[in-house]
Amino acid sequence: MKDKLLDCINLKSTNYTPVWFMRQAGRYLPEFREIRKQNPDFIKLCLNERLSAEISLQPIRRFNLDAVIIFSDILMIPYGLGQKIHFEKGTGPILGDLNFNVILNTKSNDFIEKLSPIYQAIKRVKKDIRDKNLIGFVGAPWTLLMYMLNKGSPKKNFDINKIIKNKSLMRDIILKLEDIIFLHTKEQVKAGADIIQIFDSWAGLLPKNKLSEYCYIPTSKIVKNIKSLQTPTICFPKGIGENYIDFCSAVKPNCISIDYEVEPHWIKEKLDGIPVQGGMDPKILLGDKEGIKKNVEKYLNIFKDYPYIFNLGHGVLPETKPETIEYIIELVRNKK
Ligand code: CP3
Repeated sequence: MKDKLLDCINLKSTNYTPVWFMRQAGRYLPEFREIRKQNPDFIKLCLNERLSAEISLQPIRRFNLDAVIIFSDILMIPYGLGQKIHFEKGTGPILGDLNFNVILNTKSNDFIEKLSPIYQAIKRVKKDIRDKNLIGFVGAPWTLLMYMLNKGSPKKNFDINKIIKNKSLMRDIILKLEDIIFLHTKEQVKAGADIIQIFDSWAGLLPKNKLSEYCYIPTSKIVKNIKSLQTPTICFPKGIGENYIDFCSAVKPNCISIDYEVEPHWIKEKLDGIPVQGGMDPKILLGDKEGIKKNVEKYLNIFKDYPYIFNLGHGVLPETKPETIEYIIELVRNKK
């Protein structure tokens, strides 16, 4: 069986539970940290097609995973739109001032050229994998807007009213982001991505009455466009709680990735058959084997007869031991 994730998503097959991890290519792996040490400029590393391909494949060499996610970052889109960006140890991403004119006037061809090493890396990875699906990804318009406006993580200083005070400018930027995000996914699909995951990591900052305008509508347009490429989309609108159901009705993703605050029984009952991915709290991976086993089994049992991809409710934490990932894969593979 070659297309384990695609079969789960498209055929809603429940014969096999595919497994992969968000942030599987990252800092918990010593071999990533080794490359990172020699490449202090993170953006340059994301634009190094040989190393990006190599980092994407690192977890595959260690573990029996069912999918490869391309090593890149959601913030490559603001970079491609001309916003300066660098990563500082301990602080995370720091972005430069927003120049609305530069962003709104960025031409598709220039954007594609600037990010072309990402597409080349996808082509390289595709050549090296036989029995695995390749996942491309993008950030959702809202989450990208958050980083672009806050010039960094929106954890601090978040005030929605400040952000949307110039409504028409916001609308223009969101429309531009919708186009550019789709362009970036289209190029990833052309290069060989089988599936696209859309990360809306900061959807949970939106109040209920703004979710439709800033999350559901822009995301649903992108999902619809990706469907026209015969490519399925996994959506991850992190932190929206009970609104996951409205999200699915409005956006119609091919698969929904749940965070660790979503009650798995509840969503399974409400979803009407949309394939589900993830859920387990990444912090549990820092605890003992007993707790890990109990939690893995909880998700496997709840989604026993349901199309389900095993993953976490957010990315693998840097403190996670690689052996823990191996242990979880074993548990998923050996489920009855
Ligand atoms: O999943 C994978 O293994 C593929 C690669 C990947 C990275 N970032 C590599 C990365 C993916 C899918 C992302 C997505 C991403 N990037 C998101 C959405 C998912 C989420 O975690 O919510 C977000 C919000 C970002 C933005 C970003 N990139 C931040 C806030 C940071 C710094 C802190 C952190 O979370 O690591 C990054 C840097 C980053 N992106 C690293 C990696 C491996 C760490 C780089 C380093 O410091 O060595």
